[in-house]
Amino acid sequence: MRLAPQPSAQPLRLIILLLVATGVTASPVISTGCPDRCVCDDQLVVQCAGQHLTTFPVNLPLATRQLIISNNLIVELPPLSLNYLSDLVYLDCSNNSLTEISESTFGNLRKLAYLDLSFNTLTRIEDRTFGPLASLVMLRMTDNPGLSEIHPDAFTENVALQVLDVSRNNLTVVNVTSLLALPALRSLGLSGNPWSCECENEDLCLWVHLEGFKFQDEGQTVCGSPADMQGRRLGEVGIQLRTLCHQTLGSWDYLFFVVIGFVIFAAGTVSAWVMGVIMVLYERYIKKKDGQLDVDEEEDDTSETGRTSGARRDHGNGNLKTPHDV
Ligand SMILES: *[C@@H]1O[C@H](CO)[C@@H](O)[C@H](O)[C@H]1NC(C)=O
Ligand SMILES: *[C@@H]1O[C@H](CO)[C@@H](O)[C@H](O)[C@H]1NC(C)=O
Ligand SMILES: *[C@@H]1O[C@H](CO)[C@@H](O)[C@H](O)[C@H]1NC(C)=O
Repeated sequence: MRLAPQPSAQPLRLIILLLVATGVTASPVISTGCPDRCVCDDQLVVQCAGQHLTTFPVNLPLATRQLIISNNLIVELPPLSLNYLSDLVYLDCSNNSLTEISESTFGNLRKLAYLDLSFNTLTRIEDRTFGPLASLVMLRMTDNPGLSEIHPDAFTENVALQVLDVSRNNLTVVNVTSLLALPALRSLGLSGNPWSCECENEDLCLWVHLEGFKFQDEGQTVCGSPADMQGRRLGEVGIQLRTLCHQTLGSWDYLFFVVIGFVIFAAGTVSAWVMGVIMVLYERYIKKKDGQLDVDEEEDDTSETGRTSGARRDHGNGNLKTPHDV
């Protein structure tokens, strides 16, 4: 059993080369050396592309401004190592085996302007994944064949974002609310995804229809479903979807208003009838009461003479009808 990897001539020669190189172009800023199999220059660029790396390089200069780790087999971006690089402006992670990016991954990269995550195996982008990247201008995240979900608020805080490319993924819907709110966005790549051209995606289709110039490869931004829309351009079906999706809603609204109108009409009629009946009854009651009061007054006048008998009658019966009964 070998405990240490056998040193082969190739990396050794590279290390010697690197040592010589750093000796020649000794930069006071790069003081912590350079990772294995990477090339660091005095412009604070660290180039590690195509080195069969399976893990994120260690021993990166703290002042690194550009880091290129494309065309490797890296499966994870460790938040701790990455967030030491607070001066990082340019990060190219394309063509690796990244499956997951979390909220903490880019937690401290406030100067990062360019990020490339294309040609990886990402499947979903969570809320706030790119939240801390307030200086991000360009985000490329193309060719992740399993990427089918991007949280509606994933880009909400990337106010500097100008170019976003999510072409050739597995996206079917995207919530355009947060994208529309990005003040600097001027180019969006959506082509090569199996877009759903149903009402759920109406906003996106309308947007492409209205501002086609913003979309890279707009001609390739086509519907993947439903079957009868397959291959049609999103911009082309935008208006059709609007009519389609609101027509059904309109007829339901119409029906609703007819029913409500009828109910209000019926309630009005019934209440008017009830009110009429009550009025008539009340009037009759008042008339009757008035008539009886007249009779009563006459009685009172007659009892002026025989006071005691009248008083006894009132107390005994206490009823207006009594004069006739007694
Ligand atoms: C990805 O990297 C591998 C290995 O370096 C390379 O062979 C391949 O051509 C690269 N693919 C793309 C699309 O750049
Ligand atoms: C793309 O998404 C669909 C479901 O929306 C899924 O069935 C399919 O397997 C996905 N494709 C890849 C390559 O992951
Ligand atoms: C889009 O996202 C916003 C914010 O998360 C939400 O309020 C809205 O309802 C979403 N729209 C659709 C159509 O899902």
